[in-house]
Amino acid sequence: MYICLCNAIKEKDIRKVLEQDHDGKATVSGVYHACSAGEKPQCCSCIQTLKDIVGDHKGRCAAAKAA
Ligand code: FES
Repeated sequence: MYICLCNAIKEKDIRKVLEQDHDGKATVSGVYHACSAGEKPQCCSCIQTLKDIVGDHKGRCAAAKAA
């Protein structure tokens, strides 16, 4: 599923980048740039969804650390 239509970023692209972040230190802008090959967001309508995905990832990392 496409998350960002402006730069053709799919959810699986985002998940692949987050798989490399074991400490939960990923940032929304860092993930976006990694997925877009450095292209900047255009309309920004995808940013809240990206924030939600990165936030969920950080929550899982924090839970894994606490366990
Ligand atoms: S949908 Fe991502 S910048 Fe437009």
